[in-house]
Amino acid sequence: MIDNDNSQPPRMAEKIVQIDQLCARARIMPVITIARETDILPLADALAEGGLSVLEITLRSAHGLTAIRRLRKERPELCVGAGTVLDRTMLAAVEEAGAQFIVTPGSTTELLEAALHSPLPMLPGVSSASEIMIGYALGYRRFKFFPAELCGGAAVLKALGGPFGDVRFCPTGGINPDNLHRYVAQPNVMCVGGTWMFDSAWVTAGDWTRIRQCSQEAVRLLDSLGEKG
Ligand code: 3PG
Repeated sequence: MIDNDNSQPPRMAEKIVQIDQLCARARIMPVITIARETDILPLADALAEGGLSVLEITLRSAHGLTAIRRLRKERPELCVGAGTVLDRTMLAAVEEAGAQFIVTPGSTTELLEAALHSPLPMLPGVSSASEIMIGYALGYRRFKFFPAELCGGAAVLKALGGPFGDVRFCPTGGINPDNLHRYVAQPNVMCVGGTWMFDSAWVTAGDWTRIRQCSQEAVRLLDSLGEKG
């Protein structure tokens, strides 16, 4: 879906199209921190079999880059992004590892500017109107809203839809089957991220069946709430 071999970075308009395509495919994006290298493939497979094939792999553990590299090589049918990218060095590392998109928990001008020169589209993290405006001035129109529930959840996204009519969000942080409907109902939500479908105890126990089933249930729930990307 995303070609990151170009020598010229794509323009922002093109990156927005790429983000929209991957969010439409994802609908729900697992935010994955790999604790053990042996979990990488079975966890990704269980999520994908459950219908979740766009994965954010965070750099919160030592296995993040390895996971991105291995999934790109061994599961090319998945769409693999890098999360918890905090600075230029991490940005360069995830580009090299083969990530197809970038997610950040927050925004710094340094990172926002660096990503303009990256071949990869980026979803910068925001939690306020001021942060959106800083990214907006640089051309960004797609953001991660984090930590969503603690920042006021869907009600805040609705309010942000007033001044930022052309902005779309991927909220993450505290989203679960009980509150999913509130996010899905917002027209400025393009997909949601979360971890509820792969509880860390299930991963530790290698309960891939349960993770696959919970992913399927998440997709079914989303379907029942109406076709929404
Ligand atoms: C993230 O970084 O987006 C969060 O860790 C996901 O939050 P959750 O674990 O509350 O779903």
